[in-house]
Amino acid sequence: MKMGILGAGNIAGTMAKTIREMPQVQSWAVASRSLERAQAFAGEYGFAHAYGSYEELVSDPEVDLIYVATPHSHHYEHMKLCIAHGKNVLTEKSFTQNAAQAKEVLKMAEAKGVLVTEAIWTRYIPMRRTLDEVLESGIIGTPHSLYATLSYPLTHVKRMTEPALAGGALLDIGVYTLNFASMVFGDSIREVKASAVLTDRGLDAADSITLIYEDGRMAVLHSDMRAGCNREGAIYGDKGYIMVRNINNCEGICVYNLEHQMIAEYKTPEQITGYEYEVEACMRALENGKKECPEMPHTETIRMMELMDNIRAQIGVVYPNEK
Ligand SMILES: NC(=O)c1ccc[n+]([C@@H]2O[C@H](COP(=O)([O-])OP(=O)(O)OC[C@H]3O[C@@H](n4cnc5c(N)ncnc54)[C@H](OP(=O)(O)O)[C@@H]3O)[C@@H](O)[C@H]2O)c1
Repeated sequence: MKMGILGAGNIAGTMAKTIREMPQVQSWAVASRSLERAQAFAGEYGFAHAYGSYEELVSDPEVDLIYVATPHSHHYEHMKLCIAHGKNVLTEKSFTQNAAQAKEVLKMAEAKGVLVTEAIWTRYIPMRRTLDEVLESGIIGTPHSLYATLSYPLTHVKRMTEPALAGGALLDIGVYTLNFASMVFGDSIREVKASAVLTDRGLDAADSITLIYEDGRMAVLHSDMRAGCNREGAIYGDKGYIMVRNINNCEGICVYNLEHQMIAEYKTPEQITGYEYEVEACMRALENGKKECPEMPHTETIRMMELMDNIRAQIGVVYPNEK
């Protein structure tokens, strides 16, 4: 598969390092708004072609899959550009700024018959299935509550602090806590309660979110772009509990009984960076003629965006182009 990268920023570099180690993927082309940046990136990571505009990348007939690695504010526009040119797309999280944009993009993809999927890597990693199996084994009894926290000190990063780039904690890091809750407890949510600390530019610096499910289960989620944290996820049952080390790239799962003794441990398999799984999922989907990846179906992508719209309405975060 010939892969193209749109936007030569930070995470594009991680993806480039990943696919360099995947013999089944060709590092075909990178596009940047600056030709010099594209050329430097192509040189560093061994891409065959460097383009000084995104239009050139989407017009390259050889490209099988484009990884969109721009800020959240621009995913909508850049995905539409790819789809209009009949390209399959893997787009970084958060998928778009809001659910309306997500629905429009996915409708367009359906009409064009191309694959579109969200690069929320935690959905594609093997430890996700391990966690499912541990839960299904009944080892912690009935799970009633979960907790997830993800924070990094990121206030020096422009895409986090800039309203026009759809910055803030929610779309960048809070999205992982919401996906964690969704993967464990599903989506039958009865009530969403959110509160936030806003920056002086009206973005959410920190979010606290409580989800109450139809059957009475509860998820308590936290993220903060001003501080670091232990990145932990925990699922509490009536016979024990599960601790997930690093909900952003699972580093291991431990199970405890009610006496707080560890009764099982699961180690993360060797990986390149963890991004290889979403690329492999795209390859499988393309080979099977699918237009979405079962690991992150379109309905889930839309649900996540709707949930974040709901949370933003509660905390009063509106991006400039939504006003
Ligand atoms: N999966 C993960 O673990 C993970 C981690 C971090 C970030 N991300 C996601 O990846 C995406 C990009 O994050 P990043 O950290 O790579 O950001 P970044 O370093 O700022 O890179 C974004 C790139 O987007 C391009 N771009 C196009 N229009 C832009 C504009 N108006 N302003 C700024 N940049 C623009 C730029 O590339 P050119 O100038 O080369 O065109 C820029 O280098 C976000 O959606 C973020 O949530 C994912």
